Amino acid sequence: MTHQSPRRILVTSALPYANGPLHLGHIIETIQTDIWVRAQKMFGHDCRYLCADDTHGTPIMLKAQQMGITPEALIAEVSASHQADFADFMIGFDIFHSTHSDENRRMASEVFLKLDARGLISRKTIKQAYDPEKEMFLPDRFIKGECPKCGALDQYGDNCEKCGATYSPTELKNPRSVLSGATPVERDSEHYFFDLPQMEGQLKRWLSEDRVQPAIRAKLQEWFDSGLQAWDISRDSPYFGFEIPGAPGKFFYVWLDAPIGYIGAFLKLAESTNLNFADYWGEHAETELYHFIGKDIAYFHTLFWPAMLMGAGMRTPTAVFTHGFLTLNGEKMSKSRGTFIQARTYLNHLDPQALRYYFAAKLSASIDDIDLSLDDFRQRVNSDLVGKVVNIASRCAGFIQKQFNHQLSDTLSAPHLNAQLIAAGESIKNRYERRETGQAMREIMALADLVNQYIDEKKPWTMAKTPETLPDVQGVCTDGLNAFRILMTYLAPVLPEMSAKAAQFLNLPALRWEAIAAPLVAHTINPFEPLMTRIEQTATDALLAATHQEAQALMQAITPPSAEPKKVPIEPIAPEIGIDAFTAIDLRIARIVHAEHVEGAAKLLKLTLDIGEENPRQVFAGIKSAYDPATLIGRHTVMVANLKPRQMKFGLSEGMVLAASQGDGGLFILSPDAGAAPGMRVK
Ligand code: 2FM
Ligand code: ZN
Repeated sequence: MTHQSPRRILVTSALPYANGPLHLGHIIETIQTDIWVRAQKMFGHDCRYLCADDTHGTPIMLKAQQMGITPEALIAEVSASHQADFADFMIGFDIFHSTHSDENRRMASEVFLKLDARGLISRKTIKQAYDPEKEMFLPDRFIKGECPKCGALDQYGDNCEKCGATYSPTELKNPRSVLSGATPVERDSEHYFFDLPQMEGQLKRWLSEDRVQPAIRAKLQEWFDSGLQAWDISRDSPYFGFEIPGAPGKFFYVWLDAPIGYIGAFLKLAESTNLNFADYWGEHAETELYHFIGKDIAYFHTLFWPAMLMGAGMRTPTAVFTHGFLTLNGEKMSKSRGTFIQARTYLNHLDPQALRYYFAAKLSASIDDIDLSLDDFRQRVNSDLVGKVVNIASRCAGFIQKQFNHQLSDTLSAPHLNAQLIAAGESIKNRYERRETGQAMREIMALADLVNQYIDEKKPWTMAKTPETLPDVQGVCTDGLNAFRILMTYLAPVLPEMSAKAAQFLNLPALRWEAIAAPLVAHTINPFEPLMTRIEQTATDALLAATHQEAQALMQAITPPSAEPKKVPIEPIAPEIGIDAFTAIDLRIARIVHAEHVEGAAKLLKLTLDIGEENPRQVFAGIKSAYDPATLIGRHTVMVANLKPRQMKFGLSEGMVLAASQGDGGLFILSPDAGAAPGMRVK
């Protein structure tokens, strides 16, 4: 694509649901978008970044009911928490709005009325599951029963988690409402449908113009092949949303007004910034429009949304940029397993810019999943940002401060090095533009390596010891600090606060892309302060432990009273021992680094335990009946560290983990409170 310069660009991230706190899955998407937007702004383009909370629908309505507050109060509370989290991750929205706004109500009605006027809305009476006690229609996820295919108990109304079958809630055996326990009945209701099939030709034309990544294009082809269906856009009262004009008691389905929320947010922004609606949303608008989304909502953004816009006589997105899912240590994040890291929990333990850098280094234009491996995260941030980039400044700043009164030399000693760094600018810019931030980070780090090699060769610390070579130290350190300035400019879209601090240190108002080529010489700099410190394992351990505890608290809060712990007969207390016998047992806090099934073993899991020693311990534990190994990785527990190693059929077991058990009352491994670190003695 070729672009005029400066370009006018509008960018969005998917609107998070206002039913709970943000997690790192939301954060990776906004970081990807924010980096792209910041880069565009640095390149001098008129780029605006919009987002909002997605506030409507049954789950939000029910959650507010459960909490005994109005949905308006719930979404206000959630909006404040979302905005605080985004701000702390340095997401620079031009506006963060809400889909429950006057602007959005107006736009949703307008779009609907236009679609209706063009014959794209039909009305049809359909049968749906209804809860006679709660007096409401039930979405599929609010009905549970036995799977019609395999008979598994307690399955949702749309698909079976045991056998993978998909079906409609009416096929479930012994169905019941999750809300009241009542047996749902079938009821007729008139629904409104958007005639998606009528838009097929136009959608195919739009998609032929390079709007989506190849993997999404392939998915779309499958959807076209299996035939487009009319889309049900209405829901019956009670529903938290916008009432459909001229249809009392009928509401827009949340997915209709959610993407229109992008326009709602634009209207709010336009109020204070004088933006012209037609330039951005008119049928022939020239502004580029990009949506960043996760692959689970591609259907909505590449079919329903452009079709709605076309039907309403508005512009369509220039492109939809889809990313993959975030995994944690190679596993899907899961609430029940305690691996769903909330944004705030991360912020309580670690530096937001460290995660911005790590995600930048892993992101690309593909829709592959992105893994957050906490060991790799620490190592990458420590080695690249602390060990390479910040290191350049800390190696050079001291000499300039102490020996040369904060003054950079009049010329560069190594203009060739400087030229090499400047020359890379175009390629780095292109990589940002193409969302190949991983490649951009690698290119920047390769440049940092060159600069460190240069300083290693010159050895300013040796030169400073002899009066004859002391003057040359100023030149070498000026080279180093100029390189640092260029690298921090290249990194500024990823590390906004660090680059602002670097500018302050270099005594510049800001680091600007277009200022890269002009060397910083004969210039006074400010005292150096460390811009980032190493991430220690205790911090990532504490993050995992806190996440785990949140999950446990959540599980306890949602476990129904009927699932109280089983009453089991108490084992008699063992004969008395002296304190010496007790202290002879060396109990240690262990971090479960790895856990896996053991082939051929009915009861055992193989655990790899870190107790602060050089080599981790291998322990076979009889806890297979109670734990999925993936759920154990990262957890802390207690082990007997001085138990004589035992040779078992499957290998050597070098200790024992402690678990509570009694008859068939289950097995429960012990967990220390947050903060306990591997190797601490338990006494
Ligand atoms: O999937 C989700 O989290 C939705 N709340 C995303 C909405 S994006 C846009 F269409 F509003
Ligand atoms: Zn099944």
